[in-house]
Amino acid sequence: MSKVVTLEELKANNTKSSIWLLIDGKVYNCTKFIDEHPGGDEVILAEAGKDATEAFEDVGHSDEARALLPEMMIGTFDKNSGMDLKKLSTAPTSAQKAIEHGSNLMYFIPLSLMGAYFAWRYYSGA
Ligand code: HEM
Repeated sequence: MSKVVTLEELKANNTKSSIWLLIDGKVYNCTKFIDEHPGGDEVILAEAGKDATEAFEDVGHSDEARALLPEMMIGTFDKNSGMDLKKLSTAPTSAQKAIEHGSNLMYFIPLSLMGAYFAWRYYSGA
């Protein structure tokens, strides 16, 4: 069973009685695991209710550590609800796309005018 977890839900599970972590787009319930964690409970508590991907990867967890994850998985993270989490808001907005499109035109118009001018000079024998 896999559910879609929103940012609100993730943030709400940030206490010792209920600890959820977001790691690489998936949400894990680490409430029971915290007592068994070889790296201690404090480091996990500090990431509770947050995107712990960087913290988890920085430690260089072993394959054994990664193998524990599926059991704790609650579901996937709803990226659309997480615009204020780092790394989740990298897709360009429609406004950014419009600006990009606009700046292409800004180059295209003067360049085509220049091309037309040189073509005219060439053909008029100047
Ligand atoms: C559900 C998520 C996590 C699991 C299943 C997990 C599992 C483990 C395991 C099995 C180890 C032993 C070494 C290894 O096999 O790599 C370990 C070590 C460690 N973990 Fe985690 N961990 C989790 C999340 C985190 C987070 C969020 C942090 C935050 C910084 C963290 C920090 C550490 C540290 C510092 C060690 C090293 C302990 C040492 O070598 O003395 N872990 N973890």
